[in-house]
Formats: sequence, C-alpha cells, structure tokens
Amino acid sequence: MAKIPDKNISVEDFTEETFQLESLRDGEALCKTRFISLDPYLAEMMQSWQGPEPEWREGIIVGRMVGEIIESRDPRLEPGDWVNGDSHWQSLESGPAKRFRKLQIEPGVPMSAYLGVLGASGLTAWIGVNRIIDVKEGETFTVSSAAGTVGAIAGQLAKMRGAKVVGVAGGQDKCREVVSILGFDACVDHLAPDFEAQLAAAVDGCIDAHYENVGTKILDPVLGLMRDKGRIGLCGLIAHYLNDDAIELKNFRKLLTSGLTLQGFRIYDHLDAAKQAQVELMAGIRAGKITVRETITEGLPNAPQAYVNMLGSGGIGKHVVHLTD
Ligand SMILES: NC(=O)c1ccc[n+]([C@@H]2O[C@H](COP(=O)([O-])OP(=O)(O)OC[C@H]3O[C@@H](n4cnc5c(N)ncnc54)[C@H](OP(=O)(O)O)[C@@H]3O)[C@@H](O)[C@H]2O)c1
Repeated sequence: MAKIPDKNISVEDFTEETFQLESLRDGEALCKTRFISLDPYLAEMMQSWQGPEPEWREGIIVGRMVGEIIESRDPRLEPGDWVNGDSHWQSLESGPAKRFRKLQIEPGVPMSAYLGVLGASGLTAWIGVNRIIDVKEGETFTVSSAAGTVGAIAGQLAKMRGAKVVGVAGGQDKCREVVSILGFDACVDHLAPDFEAQLAAAVDGCIDAHYENVGTKILDPVLGLMRDKGRIGLCGLIAHYLNDDAIELKNFRKLLTSGLTLQGFRIYDHLDAAKQAQVELMAGIRAGKITVRETITEGLPNAPQAYVNMLGSGGIGKHVVHLTD
C-alpha cells in the first residue's frame, strides 16, 4: 500500500511495484498466482498496517490466492500442481513450500471456487448454518448481505435444511437476483425507506434463526422480530470495520426478554469441519442446490478498484481478481 488510508479505503491508498524474485532455495517453491481473493477481513489490516504477518507493518498486503506451481525445490510440490494459501498480491510468489496447500481439483469446478464456495467463504457459511445456528426444517431463517459470498451460500445451505429463507441485500437488482438465481424465498432491500416494515412482512412477523454479516443496521430490526429462544450466528460486522464508532443496539434487551442466543464465531476455531463442509458444499453444487455467483475483475492493476467496489455495494457473490498470463 502507498499509505495508511484516512477514513475510507480508496484506490489512491494502493501502489504497484515491480521487483526481481530471488532464486529458489531448497524447500521452496515458485507459484504463478491465478486468482486473488478480495475479502472484507483485509480492510482492518489495510487500515492499520497491522496483521498476523510481519509484512503488514510495511503495508504489504497478505491475502488468499489460488495459483499454479511452476518451479519447486521441495518434494511435496511439483510444477503443474494447483495450490492455495496466503500470499502477497503478486503475479509470482516464491517461498517455503509449506505455505502452499495442494488442491484436489474436482472436475468441472472453476479454480476461483477454491477461494469462494469451496474455500474459506463456503466453510464460514457452513459453520454458521450447521454448527452455530443449527437451522431446522420449517424455520424462518434470515441472512444479511445475502448477495455476498458468505450470505449467498448460507441462505442456500439453510434452504437445503428445509428453512424458509429471507435475505437482506442492498438494492432491488441484488434482491431480485437473490430470489431468482439463488432461490431464496424472499429478499428485502435494506436501502428502502420502509425496510423494517418490508422485513417484518417478508418473515410474517417472526424470525427463528438469523445469520449476521453486516451490523446493527440489519441486526437491530431482526432482533425486534426474533421469536422466543431464537438463535443468531454473528459472522461479520462489515459495516463497522472501518470506524471506531460505538456499536449501538436499540433492541439489545430482546436478548434477555426473549431468551435469545447470539453467538459470534470464527472460522479458525472450526477448521476441523473443513472436509465435511467441502463434501456437502460440493454435493450441493452437483445437485444444483447451490448456485455460485462471482464478480471477477481482470488484472492485478485493477485489484485496488475491485477491492473498494467489494467493500461498497458493487458486484455480487465472491469477489476475485484474475491475474492474466
Ligand atoms: N467469522 C468468520 O470467521 C468470517 C470469515 C469470513 C468472512 N466473515 C465475514 O462475513 C461477512 C461476509 O463476508 P463476504 O466475504 O461474503 O463479504 P460480502 O458479504 O460480499 O461483503 C460485501 C457486501 O457487504 C455489504 N455491505 C458492506 N457495507 C455495508 C453497510 N454499511 N451496510 C450494509 N451492507 C453493507 C454489501 O452488500 P449489499 O450491497 O447487499 O448491502 C457488499 O456488497 C463479512 O462481515 C466478513 O468479515 C467472517
């Protein structure tokens, strides 16, 4: 990054440099990056230049990618292997081979799916629906950012479990796609002036289970509609990542008066579920019960604009950048 962003992340905060990679040493591999993943969790690190990897302190982004090994000095990897892992936003990436996880590619599945439905986003959706909320047949299930990667998959998984599924998304076009393409029962536009009334009507006044991706703007009205002993899975707070404002809930007391459960969860605490989740997600795709939507941007130089768009309301489904040859 060129500088620490002011309030909002903008294209001017990024810069692109060209440099020579060092030759590989024993135990290292060279990977050609094919897709990088544009994820909301990076925003806080971009904003603070603090993250789990030391490179963040120099403003160097470390995100998720899928790529192809083109050279290896480690017996675990060979040229032609497809891998995923955490890497810099670079066209070529070299480093210890253990940083790259070899992928078992399913026939007919696009490479980008290993960043979305068959990657961390799919696993996050699966954990929330199955382990945290445990959605039941016949329940009314709501999910915010329903047109986003996690929300879209969560809604379709809840549908597979027999729930009535109502999404919340920004704009009528997105809402239409959520119903017509993703198969939700309804989708409510949070930008509409009468959003709360529309939500109440779509759920017939009562929600059994909710999956939160956004923040209080959606969670507050949802709380007001939760039935006794309802369950909420708190997956993300994208609307609150980039400011330190107090997070206020007018309906907070509903947690007590209706005996609700609100449980936050992190993918890192549930990695043991990865195998089962991937098998079930793959089965859902093959059975036509999970539809995958992607917003693909071409070329690394366009990654900053694509990232800013993703944080805003641009595009639908998983946001990735395709690095051309
Ligand atoms: N718990 C975990 O371990 C874990 C793991 C992965 C992801 N997550 C979280 O899961 C959530 C979804 O992730 P994702 O990758 O699928 O991203 P995403 O939902 O595609 O995020 C982008 C979308 O968020 C919505 N949004 C952004 N700002 C908003 C605002 N102020 N008000 C309302 N909506 C807003 C917009 O949708 P609309 O146009 O429809 O409003 C935008 O298109 C994120 O909060 C992410 O941090 C958590």
